[in-house]
Amino acid sequence: GSEPAQTAELYDFMVVSNRLPVDRCSPDESGCEDGWRRSPGGLVTALAPMMTKTDGAWVGWHGAPDETLAPFSHGGIDLVPVQLSTQDIELFYEGFSNATIWPLYHDVIAAPEFHRTWWDSYRKVNKRFADAVARHAAPRATVWVQDYQLQLVPKMLRELRPDLKIGFFNHIPFPPPEIFAQLPWRQAIIDGLLGADLVGFQRSSDAGNFMRSARRFLGASVKQQQIHVKGSDGQTTHIARAQAFPISIDVKQISELAQQPEIIERARQIRQDLGNPKTVLLGVDRLDYTKGIRHRLKAYAELLADGKVTVEDAALIQVASPSRERVEQYRILREEVEGTVGHINGTYDTIQNTALRYLHHSYPVQEMVALYLAADVMLVTALRDGMNLVAKEYVTARTNNDGALVLSEFAGAADQLKQALLINPHDIDGLKAAIMKAVHMQPAEAGRRMRSMRKQILHHDVDLWSADFLAALEEKVIRDDS
Ligand code: G6P
Repeated sequence: GSEPAQTAELYDFMVVSNRLPVDRCSPDESGCEDGWRRSPGGLVTALAPMMTKTDGAWVGWHGAPDETLAPFSHGGIDLVPVQLSTQDIELFYEGFSNATIWPLYHDVIAAPEFHRTWWDSYRKVNKRFADAVARHAAPRATVWVQDYQLQLVPKMLRELRPDLKIGFFNHIPFPPPEIFAQLPWRQAIIDGLLGADLVGFQRSSDAGNFMRSARRFLGASVKQQQIHVKGSDGQTTHIARAQAFPISIDVKQISELAQQPEIIERARQIRQDLGNPKTVLLGVDRLDYTKGIRHRLKAYAELLADGKVTVEDAALIQVASPSRERVEQYRILREEVEGTVGHINGTYDTIQNTALRYLHHSYPVQEMVALYLAADVMLVTALRDGMNLVAKEYVTARTNNDGALVLSEFAGAADQLKQALLINPHDIDGLKAAIMKAVHMQPAEAGRRMRSMRKQILHHDVDLWSADFLAALEEKVIRDDS
């Protein structure tokens, strides 16, 4: 439940992200409790476990337009809401964040749009976040800024509060300088990020891209992972470090759920409801053009057409959780995906069996784990993805070491899950071959691969990720001070 915070508190540790871990909802929506539900996306999945165990506050937007809320606490986390107006949502969130930066950073899969009004709003809203943090941060507090919506906050915060330790983590890819170059405000963005003492990325290639851009567009001197940041007088103000910290999941939570009798029973029920096919395949994504859902459906449709899979023997479940529904490219994608789903099912379904079960919903984690347990084959076919936590969740849920993961090499998770069936989703024949290999994989090989992947994740859970990042931030600042 929610209870009001007592007094305006100062915090030694603060996380800042565009979204708070909870999102406003109306009571008639499913999964809505007391007007709140869990926010979508990997960022919240990764940070919520740490914040429930840590003293500190989370600064962010609560998902509703034009609503001003006082700080409160929810699920054991102190929350400091930042207000976004209807216009901020349109220009800062849907515009600059999700129609400029998002496509630009994901290999321009969709064309980014550049509008000065969006940029003005991005700056204004970033300043609002920085101001909120500056008001609530105790002297010399540690502040950890998250993701692409808030890239100007590190510098703004350093100007307001030079006493703070500032970390930044980018949850999505950072593009090569040749693509980043398109951004009219490329210097200001690099400059904004370099306000941090430590800038973290998912893959070492992302960190490398960032350092090359810092050199190219700011003329910064970059040695190893150290970037010398200069003030307007040309003097070095501080040294920022850029480094990869691959994010992970709450391994304990997922493996415990995967062993609960009710969830195991629910998985059995799911298979039975599908008519107990030999093979259940699964895709789980936000409905986003970066996820390669169209490529996956194309490959699956061809396998049905070739007679390599049949509706009697196999069923594909595609969960596509609603996302950014007012952004044009997302509307187009939904139309296309739903058209394709209709086409596939119309062609191959029988009265008894379905080729494809398409679900435009989001589900609580218990149901997700039941789906992971029900699926023999997990399909992660992203065209570009910072990490992809769904891949890590699937592997973690397979406590019997069975099942097969088809994983795009363009997802950050491919750097860690080398025993997955790695694919290039643009290569439809290669993707089809990998799906068939997964469908027919012998238990011995599946077990070997799954054990090796599980070991990797079990030893690198999200607690280690945040501990590593914060230790590196601490160490960096201490070294600078000395
Ligand atoms: C990704 C991003 C997050 C974002 C989430 C959901 O995981 O890295 O920053 O919060 O998607 O997207 P949304 O636009 O609904 O916040």
